[in-house]
Amino acid sequence: MSAEMLRGAPVASALRKQVIAVIEANKVQPCLANIVVGENPAAGSYLDSLDKAASKRGIATRRLKLDEAVTQDELCEAVVEAGRNQSIHGLMIQFPLPQGIERQHVTDLIPSARDVDGLTTESLGAVLAGSQRHTAPATAAAVCEILASDERLDPCGRTVTVVGRSLVVGRPLSAMLTASLPGGNATVTTCHSRSQNLAEHTRQADIVVMAVGRRHMLTPDMVKPGAIVIDVGTHPVERDGKWTLDGDVHPDVEGVAGFMTPVPGGVGIVTTAVLMRHVAAAACPGVMKPAW
Ligand SMILES: NC(=O)c1ccc[n+]([C@@H]2O[C@H](COP(=O)([O-])OP(=O)(O)OC[C@H]3O[C@@H](n4cnc5c(N)ncnc54)[C@H](OP(=O)(O)O)[C@@H]3O)[C@@H](O)[C@H]2O)c1
Repeated sequence: MSAEMLRGAPVASALRKQVIAVIEANKVQPCLANIVVGENPAAGSYLDSLDKAASKRGIATRRLKLDEAVTQDELCEAVVEAGRNQSIHGLMIQFPLPQGIERQHVTDLIPSARDVDGLTTESLGAVLAGSQRHTAPATAAAVCEILASDERLDPCGRTVTVVGRSLVVGRPLSAMLTASLPGGNATVTTCHSRSQNLAEHTRQADIVVMAVGRRHMLTPDMVKPGAIVIDVGTHPVERDGKWTLDGDVHPDVEGVAGFMTPVPGGVGIVTTAVLMRHVAAAACPGVMKPAW
């Protein structure tokens, strides 16, 4: 068996067209602002990719840079000020933050209408409550978009194992897939670093989502033949003198799975497209919904 590749490009392209149509029809220029503390090279290249994606859709971007030595109070003030700025529609904070700064406390100062990353306690609570009026974390929503893109991938009634329980991916995604909503209704097991017998959990699943951050961790012996495998992991690697990405899924899983997302070119590109949709939705409330 050779798995059918679930490429992110067609899903991302459909989302991009919707966003451009809404922005043009409403004659708005949405703006996404990112708060960056200190030198954060990983955030820098991520933000460069967001700038590029935003400009293709007519979305402006801004970087609000703060010194590494910023105190929690000063950072809170900056978040509140940016949250009040009417010309900013989407507001994000780049992590990690310097030691001693309480991440969730700072994140929760983002007004929910501008929380395009879906990481405030209010947005996460809304995901758990099955309310689609708030924004879900973009990566979790991207996995749902990929599964919704083909009826053969519908999670309804299937067993799903999500490996990873972060607030960015694993936990909101587990809630979204169990929700009594279209695209949900699955029976979900959430695994983490303390889970025993991980392979037993992944092998029994019709759908496996890997969101761990361990390169090539999911091997063919851990996958049920014909399963749908979604790889969220990203690991920069240098190959033949060029930088590329590997995932959490070993490439040999292709020989066992029925469907599989590639890395790069799978979840990542859809995540960016979902985030841009969230920014457009924030700039056009009532016209466009967030992606989940
Ligand atoms: N493609 C995208 O758009 C996108 C977006 C976000 C993240 N990512 C990538 O996705 C991966 C995960 O990101 P994240 O932010 O969710 O990471 P994270 O916050 O570090 O969470 C990793 C999760 O994996 C679990 N884990 C670690 N080792 C494990 C093991 N041996 N067995 C089972 N579970 C284990 C951890 O368990 P504990 O909770 O017990 O520690 C944790 O829940 C990373 O590679 C990241 O780069 C990609």
